[in-house]
Amino acid sequence: MTVDPRTVLITGGAGYIGAVSANALIAAGHRVVILDDLSAGHADTIPNEASSVVGSYADGDRMQSLLRDARIDTILHIGALSIVAESVAQPERYFKANLVGSIALLDAAIAVGVKHLIFSSSAAVYGAPSASVLHEEAPLAPVNPYGATKAAFEQVLHAYSTAHGLTATALRYFNVAGATEQVSERHNPETHLLPRLMSAALAGEPFPIYGNDYATPDRTAVRDYVHVADVAAAHLAAIEKFAALEAQGFSAINIGSGAGTSIREAIKAIEKASGTRVEVQEQPRRAGDPPRLVADISKAQSQLGWRPRQSDINRIVKSLLPK
Ligand SMILES: NC(=O)c1ccc[n+]([C@@H]2O[C@H](COP(=O)([O-])OP(=O)(O)OC[C@H]3O[C@@H](n4cnc5c(N)ncnc54)[C@H](O)[C@@H]3O)[C@@H](O)[C@H]2O)c1
Repeated sequence: MTVDPRTVLITGGAGYIGAVSANALIAAGHRVVILDDLSAGHADTIPNEASSVVGSYADGDRMQSLLRDARIDTILHIGALSIVAESVAQPERYFKANLVGSIALLDAAIAVGVKHLIFSSSAAVYGAPSASVLHEEAPLAPVNPYGATKAAFEQVLHAYSTAHGLTATALRYFNVAGATEQVSERHNPETHLLPRLMSAALAGEPFPIYGNDYATPDRTAVRDYVHVADVAAAHLAAIEKFAALEAQGFSAINIGSGAGTSIREAIKAIEKASGTRVEVQEQPRRAGDPPRLVADISKAQSQLGWRPRQSDINRIVKSLLPK
């Protein structure tokens, strides 16, 4: 490691991306404190080397004490509610948890002088864009409350950074996927394509695909899948890059593979890895599903010195096979 060890609070550190990131930070020599309310996380993924606290980042008083007592210098704010359909049905829960709760955490950070924050944002801030590759300057136009909470908290970070001398980075992940030796995706319900496809393939169940008339090469929707280990490496790069820098202000950076994979290509990769055939049921498009969401990752490369190393679709899919 080229920088002094940091003491990092990871909110949502018992979740999928949080647990993989905790392992990566610890392996790089940083100290990790995990805060999770275990609403969707799993206590058994918390590494032994991390301290852990069960609670909500929305509890501002408690956050002030924790940040102060644990001498936190960097916050990796990963915790959130993140099921799009649920956000449509219950927007109040999402705005309260993801926006109001995150502001409470940010206020606590400012009160005790924590100046570095990295935020788990999402490609959902772009909505249903027409551009074939998304640059960070693309307009923020979320099409569901989940994406709206992410875009709104980015705006809050932008304003607070200017006013309070923060270095705040929003990493806009595209479709995070794959598993590491220690951590697999265990969402309940699982809404993400690749783990659902792998389960269907292994169980011999038919799989619905929505939309076979998009203007894409094989007519199915195209997405950008990035390996969760690459996302963890991006967190590490952001922490180490910005650790020594004061008052850098706000920046938003895409984290994706930079490559598009159609649903049919994902199915082929799953069939190859699992040695089974997936029976596809073609259904009409779902409202709000854009044809293509692929990241321009040049900013991550130039600003963080990061590039995806494990995000080849076949490699991601192989990591999903039962261990
Ligand atoms: N998985 C993806 O493809 C993806 C894509 C873009 C953005 N993101 C964002 O990345 C982050 C992590 O996603 P994930 O897939 O690991 O989800 P996850 O549900 O596995 O992890 C989220 C964690 O946050 C915890 N949590 C929720 N509310 C909390 C609260 N108030 N206080 C403390 N802990 C709380 C949950 O218990 C859970 O452990 C989220 O912010 C999500 O919006 C994920």
